[in-house]
Amino acid sequence: MREPHTVVDPSLPDSVTIYEVGPRDGLQNEKAIIPVETKHQFIERLVDAGLPIIEATSFVHPKWVPQLADAADLMARLGEAGRNMPVLVPNERGLDRALELGCRHVAIFGSATETFAQRNLNRSLDEQFAMFEPTVKRAREHGLDVRAYVSMCFGDPWEGNVPIDQVVDVGKRLYELGASQLSLGDTIGVGTTGHVTALLDAFNAAGLADGVLAMHFHDTYGQALANAHTALQHGVTTFDASAGGLGGCPYAESATGNLATEDLVWMLHGLGIDTGVDLEKLVATSVWMADQLGRPSPSRVVQALA
Ligand code: HMG
Ligand code: MG
Repeated sequence: MREPHTVVDPSLPDSVTIYEVGPRDGLQNEKAIIPVETKHQFIERLVDAGLPIIEATSFVHPKWVPQLADAADLMARLGEAGRNMPVLVPNERGLDRALELGCRHVAIFGSATETFAQRNLNRSLDEQFAMFEPTVKRAREHGLDVRAYVSMCFGDPWEGNVPIDQVVDVGKRLYELGASQLSLGDTIGVGTTGHVTALLDAFNAAGLADGVLAMHFHDTYGQALANAHTALQHGVTTFDASAGGLGGCPYAESATGNLATEDLVWMLHGLGIDTGVDLEKLVATSVWMADQLGRPSPSRVVQALA
């Protein structure tokens, strides 16, 4: 299979961590309910392709996200390996379900805007913290690692532009509940490179260094890879991506696919940056998954290599 011609940029890091969200952010937005056996196989193939972190599923209300209602069944099938895969938990009920199955990594997901907090969490912007605070506290008491997401960092479908100060306030509050990492989500994929730099500068000024930040781009406007490169140059070394560009969010209008893992890997390997990912196996996985879903992957790299 064709590989990119590697030209090292000495100003960039030697390695980057890819945080794979396809099984969660990808499949949560599929209209069809994917059989749990297929999800299990998808995750095993991602492991085999070398993805170091794979977010497996969500312990959210099954009525809110029926696509992931099989979370407990999936985790049981994944066994010991699954316990190291992060899962989303919005509240203490979700945490209880994750604890019962021995999960060691959970992620809370806050909103930078009032409207999305209401639509995604059934809480106001302020009320979301009252839901997350005891969840993170108990997770930490049980020795779990907690990631915090903040959504709508670059724009909101109902509110339009989102002030950078507001994003930093919410993100810092979520992080300070006891998270080890804060993932900044461009949920609807509207961000551009200058905005990425300004947001990262603002987080750095508020005391959150690039080392505790991850970037979570969606590719709605085709900006995800450019935005990732800008964040990489800034100093971020963890990037969320989804195999084959699957994904979206059922509660965010126009949140189409995530940055495709293959597109990110092609760029990083071209820059001589190690990811641990076997691109050939990953592309084969996305081609197989596209077959299961009955439509082609939107990833340009998958299309080019398949
Ligand atoms: P609610 O209706 O306000 O819940 O939903 P509640 O606390 O009032 O409880 C009502 C009932 O639900 C109770 O049952 C609870 O036990 C039950 P009852 O006593 O009436 O029989 N319940 C639960 N059951 C199972 N699991 C749970 C759970 N919690 C309560 N965890 C809630 C509030 C947060 C639960 C709901 O709004 C919800 O599940 N939201 C999830 C939405 C979601 O998953 N969105 C997608 C993920 S976010 C995303 O994709 C963005 C991201 O990718 C980053 C980016 O792109 O920006 C992360
Ligand atoms: Mg997302």
